[in-house]
Amino acid sequence: MEKNVEKITVETFTRMKHGEGIKTAGLTAYDSSIAGIEASVGKSYYDRIDWILVGDSAGNTMFGYGTTTKVTMDEMERITGYVKNGIDNAVKGGHVTYRPLLVGDMPINTYDNPKDGVANAKRFIKVGADAIKLEGGTRKGVGEIVNAIFTEGIPVMGHIGFTPQTANKLVDENVVQGKTIVGAKELIDDALYLEYNGAFAVLVECTPWKVGEKITQLAEIPIIGIGAGPKTDGQLLIVHDLINLTLGKPFKFVWQYPKKNATEAIKQYAIDVKKGTKPKLSKSFTAPADVYNFIEKYPCDGCCENCKGH
Ligand code: KIV
Repeated sequence: MEKNVEKITVETFTRMKHGEGIKTAGLTAYDSSIAGIEASVGKSYYDRIDWILVGDSAGNTMFGYGTTTKVTMDEMERITGYVKNGIDNAVKGGHVTYRPLLVGDMPINTYDNPKDGVANAKRFIKVGADAIKLEGGTRKGVGEIVNAIFTEGIPVMGHIGFTPQTANKLVDENVVQGKTIVGAKELIDDALYLEYNGAFAVLVECTPWKVGEKITQLAEIPIIGIGAGPKTDGQLLIVHDLINLTLGKPFKFVWQYPKKNATEAIKQYAIDVKKGTKPKLSKSFTAPADVYNFIEKYPCDGCCENCKGH
């Protein structure tokens, strides 16, 4: 039986950053079963999954492509519908107290210009997504596209740092972004540029924790980390990593609960994110001293003794 269910919206995200000061917990889902569990575990602010990402990581976790760059819009549209069905069923069954925000991940080449971006974002909304996520910042020049989608009334989450769709065009070598002064500055600029263009939140993937912290302090909108340390406004993990449904070793920043079943692990994940006990600083990425020094003083080197930065 359906009971009173509170819908988590982008406004909830803003309130959680600026009002209650509670971190958001997000996980990916690609099917109805996991989505139903994620939607059902939490009964309060302190143990719920606030949002579900239907990620193009489905290319790795579900489709066996070994990459996200082969994933198509048709595939994303279909699995977003499955995830929505899972949430709907959990709501109908009376298992849900807070309905998570459902975010659809725009696959590569579906937002190369504002017109395509808007058309494909609408396809996600039609199958039940509440918002979309897309990759890139200043270097990729996605501002106009973000703004066009936002202007259509569709909430946009930005995604910067390590962005798998354009992994060969990033500022810093290897996976971790923001390990150099130029890289750290670009990440800060990217987040503020996305905010300026109407993004409601930005996901930052794989960066030194101090960079994650600085972006979180400078941005008005919520900053969510995946491998960006514990100081962001929220966390995301790929659910397959969390519940150990992978071959091989997960990334350093991933944590798991080997003694818990999937449902228990998902709930404990939400609790630990909200308490701020995970991710651990010791499992987070670091940067050389010159980068920390730069971040410490950014955006102003101290023009006068009363300077608060500008
Ligand atoms: O596709 C996805 O799941 C993602 C996360 C890895 C950030 O974009």
